[in-house]
Amino acid sequence: MSIHIVAKKGSVAEFVLLCGDPLRAKHIAQTFFTDSSCYNEIRGMYGYTGLWQGHRVSVQGTGMGMPSFSIYAHELIADYKVRGLIRVGTCGTISEKIGLKEIIIAQAADNDGGINESRFGSYCFAPCASFSWLHKAYSLALEQKLTATVGTVFTSDQFYDGKIKEKMAVAKSLGALAIEMETCELYTLAALNQVQALSLLTVSDSLLTGEQVPPLERQVAFNEMVTLALETFFSDTL
Ligand code: HPA
Repeated sequence: MSIHIVAKKGSVAEFVLLCGDPLRAKHIAQTFFTDSSCYNEIRGMYGYTGLWQGHRVSVQGTGMGMPSFSIYAHELIADYKVRGLIRVGTCGTISEKIGLKEIIIAQAADNDGGINESRFGSYCFAPCASFSWLHKAYSLALEQKLTATVGTVFTSDQFYDGKIKEKMAVAKSLGALAIEMETCELYTLAALNQVQALSLLTVSDSLLTGEQVPPLERQVAFNEMVTLALETFFSDTL
């Protein structure tokens, strides 16, 4: 039991999917898991454990933004001894080359977050993915002919950001593909605690054109990415 996840010891699997929306966590458990049970309902931030193709796996809602994300990821690692986390989220593209509903496999996370500044001071930590999972996810995506791109994302502290145009211009000039709000903290916690981590993102909107994927279409693209995440956890083909 921890402060925000009230679950029995052993009720969370070693590998956990993380998604911002707790109802997505419920959807993932209902759609992908067999024998699933809900281990957390505190604050409506659902967590489920079940089986995927015989492998024990969990999914946990995290809320939006790094402070909320950090609470859940920290407690999973510190109190439930989780060994690997894959975020399955959404992002807004800032690249002309990347279309709506495509998958971005986040190699690294530029950011404007205050958490790492407070943690590390002038030491500029580079938040990056676990290479073995990055490689596995990309290889599986190629095999399955999914449209997936590996690259840097920009993790922002603000969704409604008055300085978004300036930040986007810098991020774009440095090669970032998309903006989202959690990956930097995932990769930092993974490094601090020596666990595996990867962030997979489907493009839900374009910050260049203002286009958005309608909610129903979002689900199909999202499900393909969840399958890719589960295969990355458990596939032995690589
Ligand atoms: N900005 C930040 N986070 C996001 C966005 C966005 O446009 N789209 C999905 N997550």
